[in-house]
Order: sequence, then structure tokens, then C-alpha cells
Amino acid sequence: MPDAADLRAAFVEGMSRAATFVAVATTDGDGGRAGVTVSSLTSVSADGDMPSLLVCINRQSPAATAILQNRAFCANLLAESQQGIANLFAGRSETNRAERFDQVSWGVGDLGQPILTGATAAFECRLATALLWETHHIIVGRVSAVRLSGNASALLYGQRAYRKAIHLTEDS
Ligand SMILES: Cc1cc2nc3c(=O)[nH]c(=O)nc-3n(C[C@H](O)[C@H](O)[C@H](O)COP(=O)(O)O)c2cc1C
Repeated sequence: MPDAADLRAAFVEGMSRAATFVAVATTDGDGGRAGVTVSSLTSVSADGDMPSLLVCINRQSPAATAILQNRAFCANLLAESQQGIANLFAGRSETNRAERFDQVSWGVGDLGQPILTGATAAFECRLATALLWETHHIIVGRVSAVRLSGNASALLYGQRAYRKAIHLTEDS
């Protein structure tokens, strides 16, 4: 058995090899307006009463607290050109949390949730359920509206860098 630090390092390295898409989970309401960059956006089901998805957000992120209070959020799947927005909502720029939404173009969806302009797809959700698993909230949303932009190419993140997908032919 590896010791805990070695196991953690191997887990992080293994997971870094997965290319994931990059989304910003945004929320607004009585719990405040907030947003956080996530790679943990996952489709759960298209065939329940309504489609559903989940995001995992660190319990220390103010966005997680706000989503739980607002009971609604929007999962904004970023387009290839939106690395800057990913960095902004990951706290990788000088901008403080309160000013993040001043740096981007956004609108308001049917549930009152912030929709980032140019996101390749925006999934507006009501909070269905949430589970606190050790460090992270696993937040499940029922999708009530989907907005698709004209740009279907999503920004990816893998091996600790932003990437884009290329189409492989059978012999490549
Ligand atoms: C590409 C990328 C993916 C990330 N995915 C997640 C995630 O799925 N869940 C999470 O809690 N944090 C994730 N983070 C980290 C948060 O974005 C970051 O810790 C957070 O925004 C810090 O700012 P805050 O505390 O003001 O929210 C990710 C960061 C990046 C750059």
C-alpha cells in the first residue's frame, strides 16, 4: 500500500491525464451572485423527469454556498475561445470575486441565473439534491432550459493545460 501522500499524488497525476470540458457554474439569488470554474460537470441522465447533471464544488468555495442557498444555478460550458473566463472564475487573475461578473458579458436566464455570453452551451438548473462528500459538495441539478451558441467547440483541460479537441480519422 502506498502512503497517503503518494496515493494522493498518483490520483492527481492520473486524473490530470483525463481531458475534461471546462464550465463555469454560476448562481444568483438571495444567497448572492457567484461563479466558479469547474471540470467536474457531468451529465447524469437525459431520461428522468427532466434531464439532470452534476457538478462537484469545494465546500470552501463561496459559489457552492450560494448555489445551495439559491437552489438554482447555470452550468456554462465554455467555448474554445474562453480560457480567459475559465481563469477569471478560477481565481487565476487579479480580479476579486465580487468583480468577476463585471469582466464578462452575461445575461439572465428564465430561472434568474447568469448565462455567460458565448458559452457553447448553458444549462439552467434547479437544485435537485446535494451531498457533502468530505471536501466537496456533489450538486445535482434538474435542467429546465438549455441555450446553445453557434460555436459547438468546447474548451478542454487536460495534463494541466487548456486544450482543444481534434477529429481523428480512422488511420490517425
Ligand atoms: C480547469 C479548472 C477546473 C476546475 N475544476 C474544479 C471543480 O470541478 N471543482 C472545484 O471545486 N474547483 C475546481 N477548480 C478550482 C476552482 O475554480 C478554484 O479553486 C476556485 O475558483 C477558487 O476561487 P473561489 O474560491 O473564489 O471560488 C478548477 C479550476 C480550473 C482552472
